[in-house]
Amino acid sequence: MKLGCCYYPEHWPEHMWADDARRMAEMGLSLVRIGEFAWSRIEPEQGRFDWDWLDRAVDVLHRAGLQIIMGTPTATPPKWLVDQMPDMVAIDQEGRPRGFGSRRHYCFSHEGYRAQSRRITSAIAQRFGDHPAVVSWQTDNEYGCHDTVLSFSSAAAARFRKWLEARYETPQALNAAWGNVFWSMEYLSFDEVDPPHLTVTEANPAHWLDYRRFASDEVASFNREQVDILRKHSPGRDITHNFMGFFTEFDHHALGRDLDVATWDSYPLGFLEQFWFGEDDKRDYLRQGHPDIAAFHHDLYRGCSAGRWGVMEQQPGPVNWARYNPAPLPGMIALWTLEAFAHGAEFTSYFRWRQAPFAQEQMHAGLLRPDSGEAEAADEVRGAAARIAEVGPQQTVRAPAALVFSYEAAWVCGIQPQGQSFRYLELAFEWYSALRKLGIDVDIVSPDAPLHDYSMVLVPTLPVVPEGFAERLQALDCPVLIGPRSGSKTPNFAVPSNLAPGPLRMILPLMVARVESLRSGITEEGDGFGVTRWLEQVNADCGAEYTLKDGRGVVFHNDNYRYLAGWPDRALLTDLISQMAAEADVKTRLLPKGLRIRRTATHLFAFNYSASPVRFDLTGETIGAASVSITPLGS
Ligand code: GAL
Repeated sequence: MKLGCCYYPEHWPEHMWADDARRMAEMGLSLVRIGEFAWSRIEPEQGRFDWDWLDRAVDVLHRAGLQIIMGTPTATPPKWLVDQMPDMVAIDQEGRPRGFGSRRHYCFSHEGYRAQSRRITSAIAQRFGDHPAVVSWQTDNEYGCHDTVLSFSSAAAARFRKWLEARYETPQALNAAWGNVFWSMEYLSFDEVDPPHLTVTEANPAHWLDYRRFASDEVASFNREQVDILRKHSPGRDITHNFMGFFTEFDHHALGRDLDVATWDSYPLGFLEQFWFGEDDKRDYLRQGHPDIAAFHHDLYRGCSAGRWGVMEQQPGPVNWARYNPAPLPGMIALWTLEAFAHGAEFTSYFRWRQAPFAQEQMHAGLLRPDSGEAEAADEVRGAAARIAEVGPQQTVRAPAALVFSYEAAWVCGIQPQGQSFRYLELAFEWYSALRKLGIDVDIVSPDAPLHDYSMVLVPTLPVVPEGFAERLQALDCPVLIGPRSGSKTPNFAVPSNLAPGPLRMILPLMVARVESLRSGITEEGDGFGVTRWLEQVNADCGAEYTLKDGRGVVFHNDNYRYLAGWPDRALLTDLISQMAAEADVKTRLLPKGLRIRRTATHLFAFNYSASPVRFDLTGETIGAASVSITPLGS
């Protein structure tokens, strides 16, 4: 695995570049990402390109032996461009234009902006496409960051109408698919359909789902336009995009098909603070991040681009954007780096080289402080580089467990939660976490991925069952666990005529007769386990394996398939996974709090996320706080 950093030569006087490059190489870095926000310096005015400074920056980095990941600068359209076509900005759900003065203000559907994106991408690709230092391209930056996937502009409305027409052909078919007779929402022509916002009460969920599908397709097609240009002018280079953490607003599996390498931006402390984690986790893992946050995304993004992936931005110290921004515990930068290595990353690149003393991110740490002195992370990077070299290249092997992850499932649960705590990402994360606490390695895969070589398959929920998926599950003979709400919607966001689990009935002889959501603090008790948030009443022709104290079944078992009719607590999930693992001959061990393991073809890695030493019974050693142990397998 290579190490790298994100560098902004345009932020620093030119006399600093050579020394920066030399110090990067000395620190053990061999990759540098540049360019992704530099449009106003590359093209200060329409058509007037200023390449000289970037040519020189690229050459300086090259001379220091660094390889370059070059970004297309489309996340930051400059002022002259916005002034030239003011309607290129995205419109938010309240109908307000997104203003100039930060970034990501463009609308994916604006034809004029798409033309500009192609133009600047062609220009930069032609300039650097065959430069020997440029080994890879990053398209744009973090599609969707700052809530920018959905735009409610007239450009988006126009393209949405075309999208609908291609899908439904006639307005009558659309009316029937969405159930528009309800509340007299019928349309006579596609031209009458608007984006689903500013309605008096909620818009039709079918309307929302199609809008989300459309918006996701828009991101993918915007990206594809850049990819096609980059492939043409820069053959043989990898193309990547840096995805985000806990982000499901577009289908990353679909977009990933156009990339060579999926990358993501890893900010474990910021994510712990900003997402749903409870007070205990936020306290216990304050300076480490929850032990499954980074790994969850490593395993998810490995499944987004045929196994090739990396970390484009790694948190090196306190960030600036969470509610609270603690500093990582000494050892964590190295731990996060080695964890990416163990999960198969091709590279880890730190964000950023030097903390900028100006503008929005002046409180965001880098590997260097603003005065160019080394920040705490620098030595840990050196240490991680040495350890990676010492252990040698690692080969990723198929994990025993597949966790099926669906972006569309996230949209469906978000559009119609039915209980405000039914959060798709949280459900998937809890299932993942339960597997990892038992020491089971996991591949997070799309619903289209081949499943037959796994020892166990888990589907946290899949409300809309894609065509052919039930048949593919039916062909498996390993233990399969299917979560609540699976098969509860048709592709048009309606209740299936035979009720849930819809098409999954071929493996689950049961019917969900009623569902209820439970407010926080309410647990329906079984014997040593509980169900929270969501509970279904199931009429089954197969046996209930777990029942609540009042006799209601919550887990139903038919051959190798289990259906979980509620949101399981930790005890139930752990029990179920342990049973499945035993049936599949997958070894488990309940790991001490904060400890996680990961196997490659040759090594066993153990990561101690806790703030105190932990005894690891597999190797008999004690692993220090925020430390990593690496043992050759079989020893
Ligand atoms: C990422 C983004 C970077 C930088 C970073 C700060 O979301 O891609 O440009 O803003 O966050 O943590």
